[in-house]
Amino acid sequence: MADPEQPTITSAYRSVGVTFDTLVCVSPVFRETLRLAASAAVKDVSVLLLGETGTGKNLIAQAVHNASRRAQRPFVSVNCSAIPDTLLEAELFGSEKGAYTSSDRLRKGKFEQADGGTLFLDEIGDMSPTAQAKVLRAFEYKQFERVGGEETLHADVRIIAATNRPLDRLLGDGRFREDLFYRLNEFTIEVPPLRSRREEIEPLATRFVAECNERFGTSIRRIDPAALARLRDYPWPGNVRELRAVLKRACVAAHGETVQPADLRLASVAAPVEAPAEGDTSLAGMEARHIERVLRQTGWNKKECSALLGISRPTLDRKIVEYNLKRPE
Ligand SMILES: Nc1ncnc2c1ncn2[C@@H]1O[C@H](COP(=O)(O)OP(=O)(O)OP(=O)(O)O)[C@@H](O)[C@H]1O
Ligand SMILES: [Mg+2]
Repeated sequence: MADPEQPTITSAYRSVGVTFDTLVCVSPVFRETLRLAASAAVKDVSVLLLGETGTGKNLIAQAVHNASRRAQRPFVSVNCSAIPDTLLEAELFGSEKGAYTSSDRLRKGKFEQADGGTLFLDEIGDMSPTAQAKVLRAFEYKQFERVGGEETLHADVRIIAATNRPLDRLLGDGRFREDLFYRLNEFTIEVPPLRSRREEIEPLATRFVAECNERFGTSIRRIDPAALARLRDYPWPGNVRELRAVLKRACVAAHGETVQPADLRLASVAAPVEAPAEGDTSLAGMEARHIERVLRQTGWNKKECSALLGISRPTLDRKIVEYNLKRPE
């Protein structure tokens, strides 16, 4: 694990530069999303960002921090799904020297590191109810103790939380605490999926091509109109992250200065855009079938599959369990 004394600096540096102006935004629906986020930013309320994977929740969280009065203070990010439950408490609240056999020195937790700034609790839907109870207390009373410590500490922290999980379903199942939900829910912002703001596909694609030119030394000047049409029609289950991955690959694969339809690795994934199967026409049902199809195509190569879907490996693993997808014998 990274040294908890240091990440504040890295995280703070990483957040610098992301502002509302650096986000590609042309559609009325996404403009409204960013308007709400900018309005919350200056009011110091806690913010809950909901939306599918790859829609830009991390970027918006950073933009909110940078537009707030806390901008000069740290932006500290915790990915709740990446840290095992047993370590999360120490990660959030710190640990005293000797709290564990291996702890040879005092470690500050993320709450302390974020004092005066913003704590971004990412993937909060994956936090266990036990951890949720501790976060709630720190949040409500601005008080906590380090693991193995007696002293009650205080930190002035603004919380921004995000999840791509359906929190209402987790609430119904008792997997998410209602009290924490209502506390976080001071200001909820739903980040729309890319397929409901297709106007953004072209400007985003252009941005990503420019990024690739800079990063890989390619010199792509245009995207062929037929290629653009395919990008516009694709359902983008992995949203902006998937679009970025597709463009990156296309720029590297392209001959000459134009991205051609053949450079886009999405036909086999997207097409044919199926009519919803009878029975389950829910979004979750569609998502399950889409993931299954891409898993089949990649021969259950999860690395390739998660890259194609534009989601992380842990997210893919979780969805495989959630949808009970089984590898064919
Ligand atoms: N409006 C935008 N303008 C430019 N880039 C964007 C925009 N939205 C998203 N991106 C890019 O798309 C990628 C995914 O964004 P981000 O990590 O913020 O998604 P997320 O909603 O947090 O996803 P997840 O739920 O999987 O964590 C990033 O590379 C980000 O830079
Ligand atoms: Mg994220």
